[in-house]
Amino acid sequence: MTNTILVGAQWGDEGKGKIIDVLTETAEVVVRSQGGSNAGHTVLIGDKKYVLHLLPSGILRKNKVCVIGNGVVIDPPGLVKEIQEQEKKGVKITPKNLRISENAHVVLPFHKQMDELQENLKGKRKIGTTKRGIGPTYSDKANRNGLRMIDLIQPSVFSRKLREKSKESTTVRILGKKAAKMSAFEKEYLAASAKLKPFVTNTAVYLHEAHKAKKEILFEGAQGTFLDIDFGTYPYVTSSNTTAGGACTGSGFPPNRIDHVLGVLKAYTTRVGEGPFPTEDDAIGDLLHEMGREYGSTTGRARRCGWLDLVVVKYAILINGIDGLAVTCLDGLDSLETVKVCTSYKCGGKTITNVPNDLDQFNNCQPVYKTYKGWKQDISKARKWTDLPKLARDYLKSIEAATETKLKIVSVGPNREQTITI
Ligand code: GDP
Ligand code: IMO
Ligand code: MG
Repeated sequence: MTNTILVGAQWGDEGKGKIIDVLTETAEVVVRSQGGSNAGHTVLIGDKKYVLHLLPSGILRKNKVCVIGNGVVIDPPGLVKEIQEQEKKGVKITPKNLRISENAHVVLPFHKQMDELQENLKGKRKIGTTKRGIGPTYSDKANRNGLRMIDLIQPSVFSRKLREKSKESTTVRILGKKAAKMSAFEKEYLAASAKLKPFVTNTAVYLHEAHKAKKEILFEGAQGTFLDIDFGTYPYVTSSNTTAGGACTGSGFPPNRIDHVLGVLKAYTTRVGEGPFPTEDDAIGDLLHEMGREYGSTTGRARRCGWLDLVVVKYAILINGIDGLAVTCLDGLDSLETVKVCTSYKCGGKTITNVPNDLDQFNNCQPVYKTYKGWKQDISKARKWTDLPKLARDYLKSIEAATETKLKIVSVGPNREQTITI
């Protein structure tokens, strides 16, 4: 019985969904503790593709309990739709295998409107959000003007509070007459309320009981370390703590009961949305996009791509306390003559080995690369360490050595079985 937090060590989309699916073979409870439907976690099982936004990826396996914790922001009609879509694909979702926190905050239509408006006002300095209303919902939460799932599931309370809170909401004030009319969405939200009510419970108490019953608990991070509101490339970040600490505050599960933190990283780097990205390289982007890879799971946007940045990964290890690595998408580098890895930055004549907090400085950082010989063969059928070509193993070993962190998992394709456990 070990409890693990899984976090993205880059800018999101590291392949967390796939790794969660692999680890859920043994884990019994899977918890989402932050973010909302801005997340898009892809799992391939056979020829079936599942993209999960609010549902934890553990929902795809039988006899596992999934929890949407208090730190998540929930778009109720969106969640109902997601449940229905998964059910159409044969996934069974009942209050036995899905529990939603009473304390999770509710995304309202005017939060999405505000998200869009803020992006438009920022113009060239826009963040490139997913426009799912994430920032404005967390703003109302911090501003003590939010509505929670416990409100939503009591129709008369919800309707009353919706009116009261909307009057106090700066979001609604700013939008003025353009703010989505309650008469237009209240009915839809109340319909979602009736559907979701059986799932809503005190999930902190449930997790405590699961722990007492010696169940193995897995925390499914959304986004990645550098989208964290505190440690990411602010302001080009999301509005939650995507780092390991967020798993505790977003679920009510105490830090002293966590055993491991697994960091997931791609063998290269991607970022969707705006903000600094020192190792960005259009040639790798073109190569991956031509293979049909690296398009956003939530918005369909082409992801920006670049070389693996170990300055970034090492900082993620430091912030999250990562004690094991899962490297995904190694197969994306199969065709390359040479593979580059950034080991430090040069900035104003100085060598920098930590991610700078000053964005101007970060934007001026020039990556210093180490170059490796490419393995130039298809590795997608490798199932054990020794199946990998020596040059690929050398590349992985160099990551392990530079980060002083054990390599636990290597992923060589999107399917469950395309996984090497070390
Ligand atoms: P997440 O948000 O971290 O769960 O990642 P996404 O699902 O948004 O993006 C990762 C993409 O890479 C998805 O399309 C996955 O199916 C895919 N993927 C994950 N691991 C591998 C791998 O090892 N090789 C390849 N080719 N694709 C992978
Ligand atoms: P998963 O869980 C990659 C990015 C957006 C934008 C910034 C803020 O699939 O890894 P937001 O809508 O959260 O206010 O957008 O964060 N972003 C993600 N990028 N993967 C994600 O989730 C992301 N969720 C948000 O593109 O740059
Ligand atoms: Mg994703």
